[in-house]
Amino acid sequence: MKAIVLSGGKGTRLRPITHTGAKQLVPVANKPILWYGIEAIAQAGITDIGIVISPETGEEVKAKTGNGDRFGVNITYILQEQPAGLAHAVKVAQPFLGDSPFVMYLGDNLVQSELGLFLEQFQAKGLDALTLLCSVPNPSAFGVATIDDAGRVLQLVEKPKVPPSNLALVGIYFFSNRIHHSIASIQPSARGELEITDAIQHLIDEQKLVEASQIHGWWLDTGKKDDLLEANCIILDTCLAAENLGEVDDRSRISGRVQIGAGSRVVNCTIRGPVTIGRDCHLENCFIGPYSSIADQAVLVDADLEHSVLLQGAKVVGIHQRIVDSVIGQRAHLSMAPQRPKALRFMIGDDCHIELT
Ligand code: G1P
Repeated sequence: MKAIVLSGGKGTRLRPITHTGAKQLVPVANKPILWYGIEAIAQAGITDIGIVISPETGEEVKAKTGNGDRFGVNITYILQEQPAGLAHAVKVAQPFLGDSPFVMYLGDNLVQSELGLFLEQFQAKGLDALTLLCSVPNPSAFGVATIDDAGRVLQLVEKPKVPPSNLALVGIYFFSNRIHHSIASIQPSARGELEITDAIQHLIDEQKLVEASQIHGWWLDTGKKDDLLEANCIILDTCLAAENLGEVDDRSRISGRVQIGAGSRVVNCTIRGPVTIGRDCHLENCFIGPYSSIADQAVLVDADLEHSVLLQGAKVVGIHQRIVDSVIGQRAHLSMAPQRPKALRFMIGDDCHIELT
């Protein structure tokens, strides 16, 4: 069994954060989204992983993620020259996959469920495809499935205007090598992409064994700012352990689960968890409220923040108005004069400098 993780695409829905980086490297609770998928695959016992990358962001993904040692797996990078669809990515990965069955994991998806049970179901029943489904309020934004009582997939449609059910296709799929034949048999869709949903539909039309399993627990497709903030909340709620490797002075008050990385200094701050603070940060005279993730080398002085994500090297100075529901990009600087505006809500891209004077 092998795995491919898709880490290409342009990340248009997360701009400007993704102007200078891959959407799959945007951190959730200070860890790149992509790494959660790699860890889930490794946990299911699969060690041969291909990561499909794009020319624009591939080098960054490679440099950050490495050869797999840190996850106990072997990673092979596979270049997809054009964002020509999920089925196209499988086509490009075929030399890596050979005849092996595989799991395909979209690098911007996060799920609570472990993959092991689904892998067992796929292998025990000798399926050609196992898709995972999740009941959602907005199925038109996804691939949508119709299934029978036994869990067999009858029909799949990509982003239908009138959805036949509320069961969305989660971005995790298990395939036998028969999928390659189906991919070779389909044509690009109206949006010009080779759709994996069409390839699976082809398997169904050829009477191959295609089943679906519903996932329970949360599923997040982190393509947009609010999804990213929600993913951040859920991961901080479920996975964060309190740990202090930094320096916290006597005047600071820390409550709840708060993680502070090595080399970080906290001076005269109130921090209410769950909060994660990376390495080499400087926090002084701040209130940091629940569900905040502050990446390495961030600086916060005289600031008040909650339910927000700060990326690496971001700097916030003199903002006593509470910053909420915000994503602040790498190296962005934010400072404010003493007269205060009434409300602030931001999505600020990498390298921005904003001064409210
Ligand atoms: C892709 C698939 C879609 C699936 C979704 C899950 O959509 O085409 O069927 O429901 O991932 O994240 P995309 O994110 O490429 O629009």
